[in-house]
Amino acid sequence: MFISFEGIEGSGKTTNLSHAVRFLQDKGHDCVITREPGGTRIGEKIRAILLDPSSKEMDPLTELLLYTADRSQHINEVISPLLSAGKTVVCDRYYDATVVYQGYARGLDTELIHRLHRLLFENLKPDFTLLLDLPPEIGLSRAWKQIDEGDRDRVETRFEEETLSFHKKVRSGYLEMARLEPERYRIIDASKEPDQVRKEIARTLSEEIDVIP
Ligand code: TMP
Repeated sequence: MFISFEGIEGSGKTTNLSHAVRFLQDKGHDCVITREPGGTRIGEKIRAILLDPSSKEMDPLTELLLYTADRSQHINEVISPLLSAGKTVVCDRYYDATVVYQGYARGLDTELIHRLHRLLFENLKPDFTLLLDLPPEIGLSRAWKQIDEGDRDRVETRFEEETLSFHKKVRSGYLEMARLEPERYRIIDASKEPDQVRKEIARTLSEEIDVIP
């Protein structure tokens, strides 16, 4: 089974992903957590270039191709072998982030992004995607609080430094993806109290693992 977590900056994705994995392990799933960008030794180097706040002049197409290069390494080295071995792969961001950030927010043609994914990766998509949704005003202020308090890396803030209007496009892009693929998407209201969000995710996972082998 292949599960991805998506959401804007500060949506609580990474913390909730850990809770979700503990929940799945308790149900007997052999889970592996991974992430994009990153997830492989080469991918971590690509991540450093992508998220470096000093990479300001990066061309949008270069950005798309670097995320795609990271994904190629990640799918071939990690995701496909794990899925073939029957593991449950839980991924912190995946392809949907490319459609949303490089497509809807950065303005690249989303059809080009879809075509690349079909051409290069046989359109490999998660069985389901949990979207942690909340207004970007709340998400960004949470993200900057974590950065200021040292809980998140200051050398990885290129996207946090984008404008509020960029993040509004990211949020509406995700909601549009969820509208287009309702059978794959599960939307979680991430503006609620952390405990409520965690329970909502556990409830959603219980429903899903009943239908996915
Ligand atoms: P994160 O690990 O804190 O979620 O940061 C990853 C950043 O990279 C986040 O701002 C979203 C961005 N991103 C893209 O723009 N395109 C992609 O394809 C992926 C996977 C992430």
